[in-house]
Amino acid sequence: MPNVTVIGAQWGDEGKGKVVDWLASRADIVVRFQGGHNAGHTLVVGNQTYKLSLLPSGLVRGKLGIIGNGVVVDPEALLAEIERVRAQGLHVSPENLRVADNAILILPVHSAIDRAREVARGDRKIGTTGRGIGPAYEDKVARRAIRVCDLAEPETLDEKLDEVLLHHNTLLKGLGAETFEKQVLLDRLLELAPRILPYAEPVWERLDEARRAGKRILFEGAQAVMLDVDHGTYPFVTSSNTVAATAAAGSGVAPSTIGFVLGIAKAYCTRVGSGPFPSELHDATGRLLGERGFEFGTVTGRPRRCGWFDAALVRQAVKVGGIQGLALTKIDVLDGLAELKICTGYRIGGEVFRRLPAAPRAQAAAEPIYETMEGWSASTRGARNWAELPAQAVKYVRRLEELVEAPVTLLSNGPERDETILMRDPFEG
Ligand code: IMP
Repeated sequence: MPNVTVIGAQWGDEGKGKVVDWLASRADIVVRFQGGHNAGHTLVVGNQTYKLSLLPSGLVRGKLGIIGNGVVVDPEALLAEIERVRAQGLHVSPENLRVADNAILILPVHSAIDRAREVARGDRKIGTTGRGIGPAYEDKVARRAIRVCDLAEPETLDEKLDEVLLHHNTLLKGLGAETFEKQVLLDRLLELAPRILPYAEPVWERLDEARRAGKRILFEGAQAVMLDVDHGTYPFVTSSNTVAATAAAGSGVAPSTIGFVLGIAKAYCTRVGSGPFPSELHDATGRLLGERGFEFGTVTGRPRRCGWFDAALVRQAVKVGGIQGLALTKIDVLDGLAELKICTGYRIGGEVFRRLPAAPRAQAAAEPIYETMEGWSASTRGARNWAELPAQAVKYVRRLEELVEAPVTLLSNGPERDETILMRDPFEG
């Protein structure tokens, strides 16, 4: 099976962009299968920097991009992003971008609810991106969401908006926020319809044909396993399933089609937004990692919280996410540190855990158990293979592999495209 699925193995921002870009250049089709424009991938190609949120990364490499049914699509954000990358010289049209006709739309009412609820939560806020992701997925499971295909049926839009607004305006009123007029939303959707519908199709059919023709498909995950709505640090998670299994349901292919599952993990750990982070550092080392790693959110610009590599967490992500190999990124950020720590488990109320328990108070109380390793003084940058890496860096990677119970198949040792050491080609399985 020549396909690859890429997912994040921590809390997102693992440096997926660079790895996905490299894989996309070797694929025929790139598919997004969950999340929405809460994701942010920075791709540097030549002298251009592309910041993608909703568009599949393959477009930058001239590949067919598919937005699967599992994605929540804000039509305004999609069109704005298309315009933005077109202004950078990229070709985007219905020839190279297809959107599932059964994907859910994000409406302005969703981002309004998202933001109003975060304000109401006060100190307990989740730290969402405020882009309406959660409320759109809620509407999907509540069976009142408007889908891409509904844009072709004005009567359906009209009826569905009644139900959507009955629900959301009631909530908005209760939260003291501004409500929405049905006619204004309807008019705007009807205006957007002819610009969105040319991209719409049952993408499962195209993917089935591609699979039968032996094309290489790359499934591009967004966010990461610890933000998965089932397996993450609930409720401080996103509202979709981010595990590899979602690639199948979120695009309409068989589970056997998703191919080799590559997890991306940073050589240390970061998180944006609220929620438990046992190995978080509040000291000078934490600040150093943040500065060296340029740890600021692509979407929101928020500084990321930084900490040591949490092997107990990544091991859990490997198991529940279905990860077969890891791409370990940003190892160069650790260059020159005298000592490194790896979190191998947690102490909670006198008990020792090798995994993060599900209950929120237990998660918040988790004290990391560390293993300490000597660092390396030489730079990892410029190393083209395993043998050129400082011996201690190799030891560190080998120890992580043991602890997380997955092989490191790719190592990224700098921001440039060629600063990648490949141990095993994911497309070769
Ligand atoms: P939402 O996805 O906007 O609902 O946000 C829920 C949580 O997921 C928040 O903690 C966000 O910071 C986090 N999140 C969402 N998308 C990303 C991402 O692409 N990278 C990192 N964190 C994200």
